[in-house]
Amino acid sequence: MSRAVTATLRVNGEERTVAFPGHHTLLEVLREECALTGTKHGCELGECGACTVLVDGRPVLSCLTLACQHEGREIETVEGLADGNRLGPLQVAFADLGAAQCGYCTPGILMAAEAMLREQPRPSRERIAEQLSGNLCRCTGYLKIVEAVEWAAAVRRGEDAGPPPEILFGHPEPGRPGGDAPGRRPSETASSNT
Ligand code: FES
Ligand code: FES
Repeated sequence: MSRAVTATLRVNGEERTVAFPGHHTLLEVLREECALTGTKHGCELGECGACTVLVDGRPVLSCLTLACQHEGREIETVEGLADGNRLGPLQVAFADLGAAQCGYCTPGILMAAEAMLREQPRPSRERIAEQLSGNLCRCTGYLKIVEAVEWAAAVRRGEDAGPPPEILFGHPEPGRPGGDAPGRRPSETASSNT
């Protein structure tokens, strides 16, 4: 059993001084000491990507790194993607498109996608798939995830973009809801569904 250490971690722009056993991973400390439970425990073997957070802007598997090594680093978790109660474009796109089903993989995927979009505002489908190749999802079949990232990327670029209507409403037949509704933004779709 290792000794407890005290460290000041900078998480989502806030400094948090926490005490924890020196052998605890960043994943454990984020969840247990910082109460940031958006980051998920998956395999704890570096294989599923559910625990992905950003450290100095780069995706890191928080199950494989010790928390005590992260003093002075900029740590970002999925909670930091929202602005108060307002979800970010990636989060809204995932919710609107059904790219999150059980949602267990979603925080890790969002963080991996966020890191990519900061550097590459217009990624190809192949680039998105490559970026998310370390994040496993058992529910969605990945297509919705890739579409959601594309949609969020367009919104971040300020484009009046949206997925093809059939993604949201099925095949667009004349007179069918959404059959002739191109170019919606995630938030507009959310309100139209209520
Ligand atoms: S929990 Fe970290 S990679 Fe699976
Ligand atoms: S949405 Fe269930 S594992 Fe991805």
